[in-house]
Amino acid sequence: DLMSDLLGFPKKERRLADVLGIDHVLIVSGDCDSQPRVLESMGQLLNKTLAVLLPDGENIIAAMGGTTMAVMAKELTPALAKQRDLLFVPARGGVGELVDIQANAICSEMAKQTGGRHRSLYVPEDISERTYQPLLQEPSIKSVLDLIGQANVVIHSIGEAMTMAQRRNMSAEIIGELQEKQAVAEAFGDFFDESGQVVYKIPRIGLQIPDLTEVPYVFAIAAGQNKAKAIRAYMHNAPQQTWLITDEGAANSLLKGA
Ligand code: F6P
Repeated sequence: DLMSDLLGFPKKERRLADVLGIDHVLIVSGDCDSQPRVLESMGQLLNKTLAVLLPDGENIIAAMGGTTMAVMAKELTPALAKQRDLLFVPARGGVGELVDIQANAICSEMAKQTGGRHRSLYVPEDISERTYQPLLQEPSIKSVLDLIGQANVVIHSIGEAMTMAQRRNMSAEIIGELQEKQAVAEAFGDFFDESGQVVYKIPRIGLQIPDLTEVPYVFAIAAGQNKAKAIRAYMHNAPQQTWLITDEGAANSLLKGA
């Protein structure tokens, strides 16, 4: 609309935010599916946006794992830690994925890039509730969980359901269930169908989607035309204040049907 044109907000970003029902969308040009460098520009944009938005003083930043997040981590800079005390904590266990893309590794890299601090959470992602309940009482685990609960920033990605199920070596039985229930997206251990319904949950500790409502700064980082469906599905559950950082590949595909 005219107002957003006058204020200089690119129209496409405003339109996509409206379509997805969230407050903020930032789009970089290109499609990361065919141009991996696009993810790097998303990382630079994330770094710039955090530098503008985050308050001075203490910030507790909870980060998820994944290949997208691994690129984001590499693009953060010491400028972010100017006037700020940054503490990176993994938003959830995540042990079970390849080491380099576990949330612990992402947090360590983010701390290294910015000159901030980080903590690790050593809890496998795919253990039963009965096994992990007693772990919650362990002081080393409890102290990190308390920090996660105090996070004022969350940075996460969104994955395609089947890609994530395979990457996590989920059983043929569960993969069958996900297919039957037409899961298309995964975020925070929850699998969603196209309408945004949670169709499967990985038992887990750490941050859950309802907790995000209380977090002032939430960044969802996901891009590429191949992820458009997953982004749309997850966004039915995203808190209003979410910032989506994406690329034209995903954005154009999301706007096409809108
Ligand atoms: O496993 C952590 C995680 O953040 C998932 O919640 C998400 O679906 C996935 O990684 C995204 O991974 P990628 O960036 O590699 O697509």
